[in-house]
Amino acid sequence: MNKPILAPSLLAGDHGALAEGAETVARLGLEWLHLDIMDGHFVPNLSFGPQTLAALRRHGSKLFFDTHLMLSEPHLFVDAFAKAGADRITIHVEPAFDHAAAFRAIRARGCRAGICLKPGTPAAAVEPFLDQVDLVLVMTVEPGFGGQEFREDVLPKIGELDRWRAARGLELRIEVDGGIEPATAAMCRAKGADTFVTGTAFFAAQDKAAFAAAFAAL
Ligand code: DX5
Ligand code: ZN
Repeated sequence: MNKPILAPSLLAGDHGALAEGAETVARLGLEWLHLDIMDGHFVPNLSFGPQTLAALRRHGSKLFFDTHLMLSEPHLFVDAFAKAGADRITIHVEPAFDHAAAFRAIRARGCRAGICLKPGTPAAAVEPFLDQVDLVLVMTVEPGFGGQEFREDVLPKIGELDRWRAARGLELRIEVDGGIEPATAAMCRAKGADTFVTGTAFFAAQDKAAFAAAFAAL
């Protein structure tokens, strides 16, 4: 089983002090920072763009930028995010575009590739791509906003992906995102998840070191 990784989502940080939010994550010894990119079309919200990643790099962030593109046409932005400092680029399976070509472009720019599915999308939708990515991001809320209620109905889908991963011997991380805090993370871990995005709960935690330690112990 992959060791657990905690990936705080900067969407829940102070948007007037994003570099400080990233620094808070780094000071805890965490390695991943989850960056939620929204186009106001695929999801009914806007967040930040490539220039924000470039600014975080200019401010000295060395974190692994786990970049979640909630865009209708993410393939048009692969170059911009790679250039800006993304380490992983995760795209959604739902919009209609050439996903295989997008994954090739992501890898050609030296980034890791990930695929994401919304709560209502069956695991079968991502099955054809499991050998082209090294992470599946399973949304445990409807994408677009932080602070939503965790959806337990997504748990069987995590188990299904975990079984496929084992049966095919895939080098694959299963990431969950939305309403994640230690209790819901434990439910996802029990189904095979190993990578945990958490925004609201992380930035609201009084003792962030204890919060991070709870995930390390999963
Ligand atoms: C929602 C985003 C999530 C969100 C984190 O579309 O993808 O990453 O920021 O959710 P919470 O705040 O519930 O941890
Ligand atoms: Zn996200």
